[in-house]
Amino acid sequence: MEHVAAEELRERGCTVITVSPRQLVFSGPPSVLEQPPRTVDDVFLLALSAPDPGPTRSALGALSRLVASTPFDVVEATFLSVSASMAGRRTYSRYDVEDAVGTVLASRFGAVYVSRRNGRVPPAGAVDWRVTIDQRGVHIGLRGNRPPLHRRPWKVASVPGTLHPPVAAAMVRLAGVRTGEVVVDPCCGAGTLLVEAPVPGVGSDLAGVAAARVNAHHRPDIAWLTADARRLPYPDASVDHIITNPPWNRQVTARGTVAEFLREWRRVLRPGGRLTCLSPWPSLTGFHTLARYPISLFGQHPVITVCQR
Ligand SMILES: C[S@@+](CC[C@H](N)C(=O)[O-])C[C@H]1O[C@@H](n2cnc3c(N)ncnc32)[C@H](O)[C@@H]1O
Repeated sequence: MEHVAAEELRERGCTVITVSPRQLVFSGPPSVLEQPPRTVDDVFLLALSAPDPGPTRSALGALSRLVASTPFDVVEATFLSVSASMAGRRTYSRYDVEDAVGTVLASRFGAVYVSRRNGRVPPAGAVDWRVTIDQRGVHIGLRGNRPPLHRRPWKVASVPGTLHPPVAAAMVRLAGVRTGEVVVDPCCGAGTLLVEAPVPGVGSDLAGVAAARVNAHHRPDIAWLTADARRLPYPDASVDHIITNPPWNRQVTARGTVAEFLREWRRVLRPGGRLTCLSPWPSLTGFHTLARYPISLFGQHPVITVCQR
């Protein structure tokens, strides 16, 4: 999804400097966070970049020295936390990195460092820093004390298999929805896809739509109904877009077969209407594929397929 995020950032007047797996480096005005980008998990103010400190535990001392010797703007904080992610085989853990960086930052800023070891959660208002380490190097960034961007304030209710909001936002962009079009999600679960769409919509689910209604209390332009995705209550050729994340018979059981779903969705879509679908299904029979975007999601590798009726 990195290229989708890069496109969104460019549209917002940012300059994308590097695009690599799971990470983009960009420059842009601080105001970019006033209307935060929707397809990224989070945004950090880059404070330090350096070469990969290496795979052995000597990297921890090197990181501490690097953080101690880098000039940072002062960041007021009572509590300070760090979250790290790493790629490649290393003889130290993410918690070792967090503690190495966090203790130095806390002593520099006169803050109390709160380690995330043993599942400990930093107190509300803690100023959070981010460390990523991989073969490209180490990047240390400041989030501050706002919540991560992927944690949408509206998403208070959930269902099994619910979509990560930035993935939903990316699907909506890839679908190419235009003003005046109406989006339908026939397996809407908690309503994530339609709430992320900037146009009106209709969401339905055989298991009910209570969670979706709660999440979409600020979106009166979306209608919710309990319905079977194999027998939708819409006339033939009446729908512009279906954007959906149907059940794959893993975490969520499908009530119906792939063939039944696709036949019904083809019936309700107008000629030229689009189906944008996140699934592991190798082909979408009856549709003309426009693009396929394989993604990595919680250890699985489904594909966002954009296709046309
Ligand atoms: C992977 S979940 C969708 C999650 C949703 N995109 C979200 O963000 O919360 C798949 C949904 O399909 C629904 N489902 C399964 N069979 C169905 C059917 N025949 N008709 C309608 N919904 C169905 C399940 O109840 C489940 O909510």
